[in-house]
Amino acid sequence: MKRLLTLLAACLLALCARAGALDDIVPLPNKAELRKGSLRLSGAPVKCDPAFDAVAREAVAAFAAQLGYVSGRACPFSAPLGLGGAVASGKVKGLIFVKDASLAPEAYSLDVSSRRAVVRASSRSGVLYALQTLRQLLPAAIYGSKAVDRQRWVIPACLIEDSPRFAWRGMHLDSSRHFWGVDEVKRYLDVMAMYKLNRFHWHLTDDQGWRIEIKAYPLLSQIACWREGTMVGRDFNSNDGIRYGGFYTQEEIREVVDYAAARGITVVPEIDLPGHMLAALSAYPELGCTGGPYAAWTRWGVSDQVLCVGKESTFTFLETVLSEMAELFPGEYIHIGGDECPKDEWKKCPECQALIRRLGLKDDGRFTAEQYLQSYVTKRIQDFLATKGKKIIGWDEILEGELAPGATVMSWRGREGAQEASRKGFDAILSPTSHCYFDYCQSEDPSGEPLGIGGLVTLERIYSFDPLEGIAPEAAGHILGVQANLWTEYISTPEHLEYMLLPRMIALSEVQWCREGARDEARFLRVLREHEYPVLDAAGYNYRK
Ligand code: ACM
Ligand code: ZN
Repeated sequence: MKRLLTLLAACLLALCARAGALDDIVPLPNKAELRKGSLRLSGAPVKCDPAFDAVAREAVAAFAAQLGYVSGRACPFSAPLGLGGAVASGKVKGLIFVKDASLAPEAYSLDVSSRRAVVRASSRSGVLYALQTLRQLLPAAIYGSKAVDRQRWVIPACLIEDSPRFAWRGMHLDSSRHFWGVDEVKRYLDVMAMYKLNRFHWHLTDDQGWRIEIKAYPLLSQIACWREGTMVGRDFNSNDGIRYGGFYTQEEIREVVDYAAARGITVVPEIDLPGHMLAALSAYPELGCTGGPYAAWTRWGVSDQVLCVGKESTFTFLETVLSEMAELFPGEYIHIGGDECPKDEWKKCPECQALIRRLGLKDDGRFTAEQYLQSYVTKRIQDFLATKGKKIIGWDEILEGELAPGATVMSWRGREGAQEASRKGFDAILSPTSHCYFDYCQSEDPSGEPLGIGGLVTLERIYSFDPLEGIAPEAAGHILGVQANLWTEYISTPEHLEYMLLPRMIALSEVQWCREGARDEARFLRVLREHEYPVLDAAGYNYRK
């Protein structure tokens, strides 16, 4: 009797042990229908259409190897010719990836019966997203590196048809205020990829440190990447006296770019200009209005000391830096900053004023001559980058003065930048402090939170974000997407960085991915607790519970 009961209990457990539930998938797919039955993936053969590119094939092979390892039952991988025909004839079993050119670039479908699972996609991105969805349907141990038995490596029979709402699903990282080594940057990219984000905005330069090697200007990685200490806590008059620095070699930059690409992520580098340039000036003081001396800042805030744009040598510098960057970063955009550029020095500088006169720039009651001077800089850099096949993005200050067609605006001081930009025919990305600043505190009770810059962006707040609010329907096509920013003035360790990133970035992923009206906060919070926290635990991330 006892044995019978045990057997019965085991059977019941096997029945109830969920094949991953469809509404546990984050970000929630566009369309997901449950069918009867399930499919065991451990030990299943995994086949990938050789028509996919090498990166996609390697990602599928890596998934098969990982699943085989953690489940203890090898999943033999192959990339045979004629897979499409064999699938159509119903001959192949297991997990199969076939190319389907009729799908949109980021779309995929997952058709699972109790015999086989067929993924269809037209591109690498679709394959990568389908792999993430499969991981979301498997036990959380798939994210780890430990072999675990006694797990059900099955997925439910279902049909998923999925594609993202927004093309730009960004996450930013400030590597200037604090420097993040290549390994931590890779961890950041890994967790972005898990939730189908696809743009990594890398803030590489600022008043407090220059972080990218530029061969033509070697002092940037000998002098500008260092600061003589850092303010302590919130005391702006303090300095810990500890020399702080770091930079990425061009080889490391290429390594990160390739690593990101293998995860479906394009790196968007930012060189913040013409303000936020104090570190660069410390190495090349002749590029400033006063000639210095300058030193990379040891405290947070916005320096008045900016590039002197009245000098041609400043443009030589910028064009040389951007030429090297254009070679290193294959994406279509380079972010040129443009935020918070105080104009006090330009007002006093004979060379900047001479350029203002030559250009005939005048205060017109809407903007000052110096604001128009910044527009001139933006346009010159935009035109130069166009010769390298690149487009510019700038923070919403680039709307001040006059913005040339073709620029993309990142709206950070609110939604107004995106509203104005899209109305005027510019593309825009929403990244307002109100919902998308992940350096802000996560709790209404900051007493239990680490030291931070202030502000408040709770998980619920980011989840509630409506990117198209206040955007005219006819301008909605100009909204490329949504991005969150993680500035690191008060963040100096990987644990703290991940704590600020997670789980808010997971909420962000549904804002970026899910079609209008599909989000449900109660479901999301349940799934976060029951499914995503175990996922983050298995993957080894620190996060706020
Ligand atoms: C910014 O936060 N200064 C773009
Ligand atoms: Zn000047």
